[in-house]
Amino acid sequence: MIKWVQGVLCLSVLVAFAACNAPPVPLDDILIEKTFEPEQCVRSVKVGDFVRYHYIGMFPDGKKFDSSYDRGSTYNVFVGKKQLIEGMDKALVGMCINERRLVKIPPQLAYGKQGYGDIIPPDSILHFDVLLLDVWNPEDGVQINTYHTPSVCSRKVEVSDYVRYHYNGTLLLDGTFFDSSYSRNRTYDTYVGRGYVIAGMDEGLIGVCVGERRTITIPPHLAYGEEGTGSKIPGSAVLVFDVHIIDFHNPSDNTAVVVTFKPEECEKQTKKGDFVKYHYNASLMDGSSIDSTYNYGKTYNIVLGANQVVPGMEDGLMDMCVGEKRHLVIPPHLGYGERGVTDEVPGSAVLVFDVELVELEEGLPEGYMFIWNDEVSPDLFAEMDKNQDKQVEASEFTDYIIQQVNDGKGRLAPGFDPYRIIDNMFSNQDRNGDGKITEAEFKLKADEAAAHDEL
Ligand SMILES: *[C@@H]1O[C@H](CO)[C@@H](O)[C@H](O)[C@H]1NC(C)=O
Ligand SMILES: *[C@@H]1O[C@H](CO)[C@@H](O)[C@H](O)[C@H]1NC(C)=O
Ligand SMILES: *[C@@H]1O[C@H](CO)[C@@H](O)[C@H](O)[C@H]1NC(C)=O
Repeated sequence: MIKWVQGVLCLSVLVAFAACNAPPVPLDDILIEKTFEPEQCVRSVKVGDFVRYHYIGMFPDGKKFDSSYDRGSTYNVFVGKKQLIEGMDKALVGMCINERRLVKIPPQLAYGKQGYGDIIPPDSILHFDVLLLDVWNPEDGVQINTYHTPSVCSRKVEVSDYVRYHYNGTLLLDGTFFDSSYSRNRTYDTYVGRGYVIAGMDEGLIGVCVGERRTITIPPHLAYGEEGTGSKIPGSAVLVFDVHIIDFHNPSDNTAVVVTFKPEECEKQTKKGDFVKYHYNASLMDGSSIDSTYNYGKTYNIVLGANQVVPGMEDGLMDMCVGEKRHLVIPPHLGYGERGVTDEVPGSAVLVFDVELVELEEGLPEGYMFIWNDEVSPDLFAEMDKNQDKQVEASEFTDYIIQQVNDGKGRLAPGFDPYRIIDNMFSNQDRNGDGKITEAEFKLKADEAAAHDEL
């Protein structure tokens, strides 16, 4: 560029004066000397861009006539819109952010024969030391630069997903840091594409994977506009967000179940009411571990359908056979919700469980806490009334039921305290609550249960 300009210059000078280096050399065009070139140039200035830059205006002898530094603010202007002297409109084109140029502008591309007031004498060549800080175009979109992609990405963020992410926000202008979720020790959580965040962020989060890291560069018209916001974001600022996606889900998500191991023999499958023993490893989507039964050296035991675990876990353990392994992804509305669990599960976190069913004890039909395996004895009351005082005390009742269970004649609902069940059964029979069941009370109850396999 410089070479070419000088070549032409030399030629025209030759024609006019038959001499090539007689100073002062009148310039035909601007001369550009790049005094600093950044290693990376993400974006260079083109006609129509809005730029911010610092400059020092000098005469060829080095005498300063103007400087943006002295005013303490950048010069902000659209390029190529005749808002600048012609030479400067040309000089800025092609500049990268952080690039520095020394630009020499001939009078015909500056203030010409007129000069400018007392400041610029007629026919002045002007030198500008220019440092470009910021460029954007009203037509610019959001710029996305993914610099870390996780090896597995089964799903990407779509409109209306709820995302939890960490971010650092800086000004493109000079890298000034204005905000960070890290400093709050808490992810930023939001619905995407619903206007809860600035338009550029809504756009910039579309298509991310869990674990992905990307920078999202947002022009002011998709951020805080010409006004800026607060004390940290000036007007017309281009913002750069460095984001790290922790997890996301959709409010319509169910528990995702992937069977990772299925034993060949799988006759009996879990259902509501069953007492199950299982191992689990629990983690968050970023892989950080929350808890594991292996830490305690024993299984976790629950009755399915009895609200003993989060709904997503109930779902994930259904129709499973002993020895089977599953990978469960549980959205927060089926997990620990917006509140999470203090110091364990962050609010709105998606949970990941790897489970293995170790044991399964079949439950009783819904609504029953005890059933007879065989025919009910016709002399039930007499059998229970061991001391034959025509009434059944709690201890007689308990002994009798336990005996039936031990003899395999009856079954208590698994997974609960048997004595509590039996207590409840007793109170149920003891109509008047006097601590004993009479034959009349017993008969009444038996009639009500009408041929049911209930006591
Ligand atoms: C965000 O800023 C914090 C604190 O300045 C820093 O530790 C962290 O590495 C930054 N993270 C990213 C993704 O830039
Ligand atoms: C964030 O966590 C770190 C380390 O646990 C702690 O030193 C810091 O005070 C916390 N900051 C906030 C804002 O809670
Ligand atoms: C849980 O993690 C341990 C240790 O990594 C592993 O041995 C075990 O198989 C895992 N359990 C399940 C159910 O995935």
